[in-house]
Amino acid sequence: LAPKPLRGRRLLVTAGPTFEPIDPVRGITNHSSGKMGFAIARAAAEAGAEVTLVAGPVQLATPRGVQRLDVQTAQQMHDAVLSLAPRQDVFIATAAVADWRPAQSHEHKLKKAEGGATAPVIAMAENPDILAAVARLPDPPFCVGFAAESEKLEEHADAKRRRKGIPLIVANLGPATFGRDDNALLLIDERGRRELPEAGGRADKLSLARELIRDLSTRL
Ligand code: C5P
Repeated sequence: LAPKPLRGRRLLVTAGPTFEPIDPVRGITNHSSGKMGFAIARAAAEAGAEVTLVAGPVQLATPRGVQRLDVQTAQQMHDAVLSLAPRQDVFIATAAVADWRPAQSHEHKLKKAEGGATAPVIAMAENPDILAAVARLPDPPFCVGFAAESEKLEEHADAKRRRKGIPLIVANLGPATFGRDDNALLLIDERGRRELPEAGGRADKLSLARELIRDLSTRL
């Protein structure tokens, strides 16, 4: 019988990109397949947790036994997460949240002016930092962030961990993993670092998610 180290625990995961509409046919989004977050939700459910997955627009099937809530914008993701977070034991933020949104979403499609007139300028407003907001709750769940950095990975990831006030951050090692099925992770907490897969190299996202969940279950 498989061990269930997260039995009785509630775990909340965000995954995928957010989509910030400009008008009814256009929007701003981030690169993210959602695969890592969905794999984590699946691994957590396998480990016996009660899992809620808040997902941006992705093309992925809901893992067995996972409660899924679909959202589009960062603000919707924020509202869904903040309403659920106070009852959770763990919050894992894998979503690639858009940092800014168009300050206003136009009701009708923006039209090209006849005769080659000027291109529109889109004013932007800042989106809330969902992970930092959860970490600031009076009795927060154990918060795990993800970081994709293009340079000085460890330094930037750890700075992000401290800035957001979270105990653990997971950095994506190596080249961009968008849409790929394999990855390698670097876990950074206040005591140090640990690489997954333990054996080195890369591993498929589900095996990594299972290793991460095993690691996490020892921290609660
Ligand atoms: O600050 P940065 O976007 O690089 O931080 C990445 C981490 O913060 C990820 O865990 C991501 O899911 C989370 N995040 C968030 N809300 C935002 C921006 C990032 O929850 N608005």
